[in-house]
Amino acid sequence: MISIDLTGKTALVTGASGELGRVMARTLAQAGANLLLHSYRNPDRAASLAEELRGRGTRCMTVSADVGDLQSVLRMRDGIRASGFPMPDILVDNAVVQYDWKSVLEQPVEDYESQFRSCVLQNVHMAKAFLPDMIEKGWGRVIGTNTECAMQCFATQSAYAAGKRGMDGVMRVLAREVGPYGITVNQVAPGYTISDRDRANHTEVQPTDVRIPLRRRGTDQEVANAVLFLASDLASYITGAYLPVCGGNVMPTI
Ligand SMILES: NC(=O)c1ccc[n+]([C@@H]2O[C@H](COP(=O)([O-])OP(=O)(O)OC[C@H]3O[C@@H](n4cnc5c(N)ncnc54)[C@H](OP(=O)(O)O)[C@@H]3O)[C@@H](O)[C@H]2O)c1
Repeated sequence: MISIDLTGKTALVTGASGELGRVMARTLAQAGANLLLHSYRNPDRAASLAEELRGRGTRCMTVSADVGDLQSVLRMRDGIRASGFPMPDILVDNAVVQYDWKSVLEQPVEDYESQFRSCVLQNVHMAKAFLPDMIEKGWGRVIGTNTECAMQCFATQSAYAAGKRGMDGVMRVLAREVGPYGITVNQVAPGYTISDRDRANHTEVQPTDVRIPLRRRGTDQEVANAVLFLASDLASYITGAYLPVCGGNVMPTI
């Protein structure tokens, strides 16, 4: 039987206080990983997730940083090191700044800047902070959360699409740069995903579902499953990939 065992590995999930991040964290923990649970403005959510995971025997710690600010990310790294908690072997760069989507003519320039920080610079900051330790170990996984929107470029999504397309450039270059050290760098690209928020509001089914080849929205767990796969040794020869988890809604060409 094939199974995924991350015992002895430590994963840091940014945005573990958010909708998709909490399920990624739970799923990596279920495979045996230690968890560094990142939050920013909602540390209470990361704390309650930590309590839940500890109750199931996971070694975990909550951490905080503004992912758009290098000094803040470096302070988070220094705090982990000083605590004695293992440094991450698996980075899940998942946090995102939410904002109101508007047309290019109406979207404030500040929203492009904040998307650049959270989508592009997050990955740069996390790499600068944590990849030197992975390079030393000769093993690592970097998994970024992209989006199907990066391929769709629909009206009102310009700041988000620009940030995520910029992220794609960083991740592909990084994959080439750190591949020689046994580190893979990949992205999952969810569609509009069912999470706890939908379950609470009964908004799982959307009018746009009929356009999706699989005729339904995907779930937070299905996105987390892709993250787990990319974190595992089953994905040992996959790097530089952009993996859509969107029921076929976008199909990047080869
Ligand atoms: N949900 C979807 O349908 C969907 C679809 C495609 C792609 N995605 C992608 O999936 C990822 C997760 O999305 P989500 O829907 O789970 O988002 P979410 O629920 O809004 O969570 C966003 C997370 O980012 C954190 N965050 C926000 N600003 C931050 C900052 N400046 N520094 C550090 N952390 C910050 C938040 O932390 P605090 O709350 O603690 O402040 C929160 O944990 C994102 O990259 C998103 O683009 C989501």
